[in-house]
Amino acid sequence: MDNKKQSFETEAIRTQVDRTQFLEHSNPLYLTSSFIFEDAEDMRASFAEEKQRNIYSRFTNPNTSEFVSKICNMEGAEDGYAFATGMSAVFSTFAALLNSGDHIVSARSVFGSTHTLFTKFLPKWNISTSYFKVNEIEKIESLIQPNTKILYAESPTNPGVDILDLELLGKIAKKHKLILVIDNCFATPYLQNPIRFGADLVIHSATKLIDGQGRVLGGVVVGNKELIREIYLFSRNTGPALSPFNAWILSKSLETLVVRVERHCENAHKVAEFLEEHEKVNWVKYPFLRSHPQFEVAKRQMKLGGNIVAFEIKGGVKAGKKFLNAIKLCSLSANLGDTRTIVTHPASTTHSKLSEIDRLEVNITDGLVRISVGLENVEDIISDLKQALGSN
Ligand SMILES: Cc1ncc(COP(=O)(O)O)c(C=O)c1O
Repeated sequence: MDNKKQSFETEAIRTQVDRTQFLEHSNPLYLTSSFIFEDAEDMRASFAEEKQRNIYSRFTNPNTSEFVSKICNMEGAEDGYAFATGMSAVFSTFAALLNSGDHIVSARSVFGSTHTLFTKFLPKWNISTSYFKVNEIEKIESLIQPNTKILYAESPTNPGVDILDLELLGKIAKKHKLILVIDNCFATPYLQNPIRFGADLVIHSATKLIDGQGRVLGGVVVGNKELIREIYLFSRNTGPALSPFNAWILSKSLETLVVRVERHCENAHKVAEFLEEHEKVNWVKYPFLRSHPQFEVAKRQMKLGGNIVAFEIKGGVKAGKKFLNAIKLCSLSANLGDTRTIVTHPASTTHSKLSEIDRLEVNITDGLVRISVGLENVEDIISDLKQALGSN
């Protein structure tokens, strides 16, 4: 692969594995589980990693390599590995890098399944986690123990759209020799590059804006070469690899990432401004609205505000449910980062099993609504939200 550094958009389109003898223009799909060897010596040398070549698609495949190369270029990372889902990327990172007795310091507001890993599964291997609130970042140092190995956060957070100061996290991680892992899913590699601020590893659920069309699941981890080597060795043996078909889809999607994300952000900003003026809305959180508590930090570390808008509808759970029932154009779905606008009400759905006190700990109030703003005409999105708010 030609890895000459060009502009973001050009690399997203022009990074491509070597052409076959057919000189295809667009990269084909390498739907093969394994690769053949010229002779016994070639096979031996390949397994001994004396040669860099494809052996088996659980290890590498031309489609996954192309996808990983693009994400590495976009994030300014040395190396990476692609996974079947965002969650397999998150889990494999912890499983590969941590030992029994190790400790994680994490923001409390993280994606639900990541939180479940911290509370339910990692403790089975004697790995513990301490949490800091997104607005109490100054408390992080007091949570660090001699056995702390990873500092973990998302920014913007899911579903509250809070922003964490990546530069500050980078400084803390460096000072205490921690591995800083950032889930960059809401920002995409176009809007924010955590490695610039000191992150060692960056994780994406490629299921979201990277696919962008709600078709396939995928995940990726990129960053420091030595750490990726550990993650690769773990994954090559445990098998969470991304399928070549999904890698092919995701690599194609990256060709249009910039134009899609720019329009997503433009639409989301307009939706946020509309909601901010609405009488049935208590507050709106969108990183590039002046009213966002971390507006200045968001401006420093993100190109645009992203496509997720959170707001609180007046009237709590009852009003939230009524709003969802009145929605006509937008979808009620668990995904985000799709071309289609998606509306969710965490208190009555994804987080309904938590007590109100536990929900408030992570800023999920009863009236919180999360919108993943899509690529429909923004006037149509706004008019759907307007009529649904009118039903309350
Ligand atoms: C911030 C974040 N991280 C990780 C994930 C998990 O990704 P996946 O669904 O691809 O496993 C999600 C999914 O919503 C997410 O929002």
